[in-house]
Amino acid sequence: MRKIEIASLPGDGVGIEVTEAAKDVLHTLTDAHGGLRFSFSSFPWSCDYYSEHGVMMPKDAMTTLRQFEALFLGAVGNPALVPDHISLWGMLIKIRREFELSVNVRPAKRLKGIASPLANPKSFDFVVVRENSEGEYSEVGGRIHQGEHEVAIQNAVFTRRATEKVIRYAFQLAEKRDNRLVSATKSNGIVHSMPFWDEVTKSVAGEYPHVDMQSSHIDALAAFFVTKPADFDVIVASNLFGDVLTDIGSAIMGSIGIAPSANINLEGRFPSMFEPVHGSAPDIAGKGIANPIGQLWTAKMMLDHFGFEELGQTLMDAIENVTEAGIKTRDIGGTSSTKEVTEAVKQKILQSARS
Ligand code: NAI
Ligand code: MG
Repeated sequence: MRKIEIASLPGDGVGIEVTEAAKDVLHTLTDAHGGLRFSFSSFPWSCDYYSEHGVMMPKDAMTTLRQFEALFLGAVGNPALVPDHISLWGMLIKIRREFELSVNVRPAKRLKGIASPLANPKSFDFVVVRENSEGEYSEVGGRIHQGEHEVAIQNAVFTRRATEKVIRYAFQLAEKRDNRLVSATKSNGIVHSMPFWDEVTKSVAGEYPHVDMQSSHIDALAAFFVTKPADFDVIVASNLFGDVLTDIGSAIMGSIGIAPSANINLEGRFPSMFEPVHGSAPDIAGKGIANPIGQLWTAKMMLDHFGFEELGQTLMDAIENVTEAGIKTRDIGGTSSTKEVTEAVKQKILQSARS
């Protein structure tokens, strides 16, 4: 029996509701199939925690988290209590950077029973690999001369090390899938970092001659995600470009509430972190109507990460059986509660274990 120690970070708002649902489903899955057990230790770090302690996480938080094999996060943020830049940089971004979670993997595909806002979405199924540690999201810069003549400077930072890492990961993923990769660029407008990105892409491409690699400008690529998403398989992008592209990915799937993601430490020196794409959804928090699928699909990515692909597939099949049967939360056109969807997924898992 393999036992995996997970730190659970429910965070704020619906994050608490959907991590609870996902843990419940994971226990059902591993109990039904045997051979694996997740042991969750939960930490209350959040905006509520900040209100009480003046920090998002205690001083020794990173030392504590380091001892786990993976982190399972809901969502962080409650702008009514704590400004977003404090909650985000005090927890999520801190973990992503200090644990060198340099790659963020975000799949998007058409799920059975979920309507896409696109008129003719066909069966798209792609993965965006996003650089997660630098790029446009940097602290380098500043502001001077407040007032009428104020100047704000925000620098993007691209290191060869991080750029190569994310691009190589994307090529390796493309090899496992369909040997096709699109690199998001903007070397016509951004004249230093993007030509550098393209150069690194070309040099890494040399190591993967059987992968068909194409570069596409981010603006055109964003449009293609809407007009012909089925044409894509693996896409690699910088931090900002990947962030924007993956919101389009969630949108064309039908809801941000179903989109999953994994933040990967490639060297295995630190735990990787699994979290859905959506935030804490303060507008629906506490109502019991949050869609648990983003968090459940994230759990599937965690299973895959640990080599339990078969269990991951069982979970994904159960999710799609449930959406196909019309048991859906409001954001995807249903009337079911978080609990009803969760119970239905558990039932499907138990059925599949019996058959
Ligand atoms: P959001 O993703 O929380 O919500 C956007 C919209 O999607 C809302 O209408 C919400 O009701 C809906 N939605 C989100 N998740 C859903 C789910 N599981 N089921 C059904 N509907 C869902 O983004 P927003 O409103 O921009 O941010 C709210 C807070 O979350 C902010 O404090 C923000 O900083 C934080 N945030 C945190 C993230 C994280 O922890 N990874 C990511 C994005 C935002
Ligand atoms: Mg985003």
